[in-house]
Amino acid sequence: MRCDILTLFPEAVNAFLEFSILKKAREKGLLEVKAYNIRDFTEDRHRVVDDYPYGGGAGMVIKPEPLFKAVEYLKSDNKERLVIFMSPQGKQFNYEIARRLSEENRRLLFICGRYEGIDERVRMALVDEELSIGDYVLTGGELASLVVIDSSVRFIPGVLGDERSALEDSFSQGILDYPHYTRPADFRGMKVPEVLLSGDHEKIRRWREKAAISRTLRQRPDLIEKMKLTEEYLQIIDEIKKEEGL
Ligand code: ADE
Repeated sequence: MRCDILTLFPEAVNAFLEFSILKKAREKGLLEVKAYNIRDFTEDRHRVVDDYPYGGGAGMVIKPEPLFKAVEYLKSDNKERLVIFMSPQGKQFNYEIARRLSEENRRLLFICGRYEGIDERVRMALVDEELSIGDYVLTGGELASLVVIDSSVRFIPGVLGDERSALEDSFSQGILDYPHYTRPADFRGMKVPEVLLSGDHEKIRRWREKAAISRTLRQRPDLIEKMKLTEEYLQIIDEIKKEEGL
C-alpha cells in the first residue's frame, strides 16, 4: 500500500507510524506513507490555510488554493492515485472497504480536513471517494485516515505475523470474533473453558463458532440480520436462544 496524506499536522501522522506493526510493514516495504503539510502549499507570507465561510456561521474553512496546489504537485509524478477525503459526511468505512483498499494498485491520497471543513470545490473537483469512520465528529481527519490505513494494511500478506489472523478476525465471516484465552488455565479462580484444553479440534471449532455467534447476537444483532445463515448457524442460533432464553 502506497499512501500520501495531506494534513496540517504531518508530525502527528508520522508519530503513529513509528510503532509496532505499521513500523514493521514500512520496514518490509509493504507500506509506504508520506505526510505533506498543506501549509507548505500556501503562497502568502503568513501561510494562511483557512478563511471565514461565505454566508456566515461558526468556524473556518480550508481554502481551495493550497489543497489544489498540493494535489496538483503530488499528481505531477503521473502515478495513478485514488483521492480519499476523510469527513463525517462520507460513506461509512468498514471491513469490506478496508479489504478493497488493501488491494488497490493506485496510490491512496488522503485529504485530512480541519476546522469546519474544506471548500466544497475541492471535494467536487479532486475527491474520488469520501469516507467517514463513524457517526461522530473528530477535530480533524488525521486519526480517521490512520484508522483506514491501519485496518487496510492488516490484509496485506506478510504484514501480520500469522497469516490466518486477518481472516479469522471479527467481521471476516460477517460476525464478531470468538473469545481468546492464554495461560494460566486458572487465573484468580476464573477458569479457561474446559473444551479449549481438550485438544479435540472439531469440538473447539464448534465451541468458538457458538461463542462468536452468541456474542454477536448480544452485542450486534444487526450483523446476524444481514447474514446469509447456513444450516449450522441456524442450528447454533436456536441452541443459544434456548439456553439464554432470548
Ligand atoms: N473528520 C472528522 N470527523 C470524521 C469522521 N467521523 N470520519 C472521518 N473523518 C472525520
